[in-house]
Amino acid sequence: MTTLLINGTQHQIDAEDDMPLLWAIRDLAGLSGTKYGCGMGLCGACSIMLDGKLTFSCTLPVSAAQGKAITTIEGLATDKGLHPVQQAWVEQDVPQCGYCQSGQIIAAAALLKQNPHPSDEEIRAKMSNLCRCGTYQQIFAAIKRAAEIQGAQS
Ligand code: FES
Ligand code: FES
Repeated sequence: MTTLLINGTQHQIDAEDDMPLLWAIRDLAGLSGTKYGCGMGLCGACSIMLDGKLTFSCTLPVSAAQGKAITTIEGLATDKGLHPVQQAWVEQDVPQCGYCQSGQIIAAAALLKQNPHPSDEEIRAKMSNLCRCGTYQQIFAAIKRAAEIQGAQS
C-alpha cells in the first residue's frame, strides 16, 4: 500500500511503485478529471500540480509522488468558490469538446501561482498543452482575465 496526498486527502493506493501516477489518480483514487492523451509527456492532458509545480502524471511513477502534495482539477475550487482560472474559463466560454481543458486549467493555475502577472510572451511560452479543438485564443484571453481576478482577490 502507498499513501498519496491528493487535494488534501490521504488516499491508500494499492499500486506498484512504477505505475504511472495518472492511473493511480484516475483508476485507484477515482478522480477522473485528469485525462489521458498521449501517455508520453507531450500533450498535457494529464497535467497535475506536484507541490505546486506543473507535472505530467502520465510519465511520473507513483513512487515519485509519495510525500508530495498532488493537486488535480477536482482540488482547485474551495469553499470560497471557483479558482480564478476556473472563473475566467467560464467567463470566456473556453472549452469546446473539453477533453484537454482540465490539463489546460491546471497549467494556467500553475503559471499564475509562479507568476501572478505574466506577460503575453510568458503566457505563450509556458502554455504548451495541446488542444485538438484549437481553443488557444480563448485560453489566452482567459489567463489574462484570471490574472485580473486573482489580483483583485489578493
Ligand atoms: S497524457 Fe500526459 S502529456 Fe499527454
Ligand atoms: S477543447 Fe477539445 S481538445 Fe481542447
